[in-house]
Amino acid sequence: MSRTLVVLGAGVGLGSSVAHRFGRDGFRIGLVGRRQHRLDEVGAGLRAAGVDCETFTADLAHPDVAAGLIGKIEAKLGGIDALHYGPLAGDQQFYAARSLDIATQQRLLDLFFLTPMALIAEVLPGMIERGEGAILVTQGLTAINPIPGLSGVGPAMAAMHNYICSLFSELADHGVYAGTLTLCAGVRGSEMYQRLHSRDDLRSSAPSVCPDDIAEVLWTMYVDRDQPATEYPVSDVAPPRRPPDPA
Ligand SMILES: NC(=O)c1ccc[n+]([C@@H]2O[C@H](COP(=O)([O-])OP(=O)(O)OC[C@H]3O[C@@H](n4cnc5c(N)ncnc54)[C@H](OP(=O)(O)O)[C@@H]3O)[C@@H](O)[C@H]2O)c1
Repeated sequence: MSRTLVVLGAGVGLGSSVAHRFGRDGFRIGLVGRRQHRLDEVGAGLRAAGVDCETFTADLAHPDVAAGLIGKIEAKLGGIDALHYGPLAGDQQFYAARSLDIATQQRLLDLFFLTPMALIAEVLPGMIERGEGAILVTQGLTAINPIPGLSGVGPAMAAMHNYICSLFSELADHGVYAGTLTLCAGVRGSEMYQRLHSRDDLRSSAPSVCPDDIAEVLWTMYVDRDQPATEYPVSDVAPPRRPPDPA
């Protein structure tokens, strides 16, 4: 019987590549995002490649969607064997830490920490009962390496990174893998990448990587199951230094 992967945050960049990579190995795919037309686009590509998939619209900015969403997916696809969490809007904003307010940080905590926590709480009992399962979370560089002026997302992702590393150890004896992948480069073809490269004032010289290569890293994590945290490509950005005190 084929296994099921749910891609939470299924866009034209990494989400699509992860779905294709697991689909190639026989996984049935559940695609989750807010825009039906975007899910249809990704779904059409998968079906053309012979991959069985279903689409589900949900706004992952609200942790209370978890129970209903997982229920809907399981009703259509059966038990969930693997989950990839990686939503990112093309217009996602970053903030200077000193200007962050509680309401903004709460929204980011919901999307990048509390919703995935709630989703994991829904699928974990089934995975533990079956003695098999995988939880994969992809994040950005600021999850592990704070960058001045680019906060907000980072603190929320750092919490998730910490949580996944704890789960990795706690679940090892239950046959369930939890791992986090930190991307230290932009994702070529993603909406975020397209936005940054369509405007001269936003275009950056930061490195970028092909989403199919990232999906291959996630597949290797899934197969090997021996690391709680992986970086790709390996980060060479030094941690931020404290500015020198004024003389
Ligand atoms: N793109 C980059 O340059 C970059 C850099 C570093 C790290 N990453 C990591 O890579 C992953 C994303 O890859 P990607 O950028 O290539 O994206 P993608 O897989 O092309 O698309 C992600 C999808 O997430 C969906 N999404 C955003 N907010 C959502 C919400 N509140 N509820 C439900 N779905 C939501 C968006 O669809 P809807 O708008 O239709 O909901 C979007 O299509 C994330 O884990 C991100 O942290 C990306």
